[in-house]
Amino acid sequence: MDPDLRERLAELVRARRAVRAYRPGPLDEELVREYLGLILEAPSAFNLQDPGIIRIRDPRVRARVLAAAGGQRQVAEAPLLLAFLADPAGWRRTLPEVTERNLASGYWDPATAAERGERIRAFQRVRAEAGLAREFALRNAMIAATYGILLAPAFGWASSPMTGFDDAALKEALGAPAEATVALLLAVGEPAEDPPHPGRLPLAHRVHLDRWGGAGD
Ligand SMILES: Cc1cc2nc3c(=O)[nH]c(=O)nc-3n(C[C@H](O)[C@H](O)[C@H](O)COP(=O)(O)O)c2cc1C
Repeated sequence: MDPDLRERLAELVRARRAVRAYRPGPLDEELVREYLGLILEAPSAFNLQDPGIIRIRDPRVRARVLAAAGGQRQVAEAPLLLAFLADPAGWRRTLPEVTERNLASGYWDPATAAERGERIRAFQRVRAEAGLAREFALRNAMIAATYGILLAPAFGWASSPMTGFDDAALKEALGAPAEATVALLLAVGEPAEDPPHPGRLPLAHRVHLDRWGGAGD
């Protein structure tokens, strides 16, 4: 264990707040690229890396996103605005590239690639038949978005996660595929406010022992 790392991470997690006011001016582009690269380190089922991230830079697109998000201040103000996209068909696009790269790097040999490809297609088929493809895509996208939330303070930034938007209008503004869902909008930037901790319920109220309702201590 690394106590310093634990302490720093604990501090970062406890001090993180949803911030809705941001300082104007662009963020350092190198840092933004580093931040985005770290978000891509988020895990995804079978490492399919299917969640897409849309960086909203064009003011005309932002204006439409702002309208779709009910005019929320942070959408207008934050220098960096990201939409995390869950696309149930995303894995079909990424599987060939992931396979190609894994073969090129030697991470998979051809037999493994064939076996994994078969297993992934079978898994996705079962999920799709059960009507759960969207749910599965959402899980991966939310994990990527969570990386964005947690990484921001390490760059001196804050973030505002949002689902308060009109799904159809937002998808339209972003040109998202019909079957896709915006899992989360994330506004990021240097904070211009320091909101208080809104509190959390005690551990015993939220952690169950063995079964739902099982008393913790
Ligand atoms: C999935 C999700 C959706 C949210 N949507 C919005 C939103 O649309 N607008 C907003 O102002 N805050 C939104 N929030 C922020 C929450 O209100 C905030 O995280 C919560 O009150 C806890 O505060 P804290 O993040 O400072 O601990 C959202 C948070 C999450 C996790």
